[in-house]
Amino acid sequence: QLAALRADPGRLIPTAVEELMRYDTPLQLFERWVLDDIEIDGTTIPRGSELALLFGSANHDPAVFDRPGTLDIARRDNPHISFSAGIHYCIGAPLARIELAASLAALLRRAPKLRLAAEPRRKPNFVIRGFEELLVEV
Ligand code: HEM
Repeated sequence: QLAALRADPGRLIPTAVEELMRYDTPLQLFERWVLDDIEIDGTTIPRGSELALLFGSANHDPAVFDRPGTLDIARRDNPHISFSAGIHYCIGAPLARIELAASLAALLRRAPKLRLAAEPRRKPNFVIRGFEELLVEV
């Protein structure tokens, strides 16, 4: 996937940004409070309940995504919810998309031999997904 991205960054960076956000969802979980009793799939969730929305899980839903476990930086149909949905949809999403595309392009350009120097270590956190340590050689 990295080789494909390097070969055609102009075409693939926009879809790669969306796919990387889907595949390794940065904010895995967010909460909501139920304002009225609601039934979902035969289960009634009463008013006042606190719910965890699993964005990372929704982004791997096989009913929505073709081959959800595969990282495909050219994926076109990609309705991920990494920026949430509804009235709390991330107000910074357009800026985040510009920053991600620009930084990915700069990284590919300035570090043509970039590779992992050690197995990355993830943070032990199930809300914000990220790395404790990511050692690379340039
Ligand atoms: C990759 C980067 C980012 C990710 C993954 C992200 C993700 C999210 C998510 C999932 C929510 C919704 C939380 C919910 O459902 O209640 C959210 C809300 C929000 N984000 Fe972001 N965000 C990103 C970048 C940014 C940036 C760059 C800004 C500001 C410049 C920003 C500002 C906000 C604000 C103010 C809200 C609250 C919106 C509201 O509740 O009405 N975000 N973000």
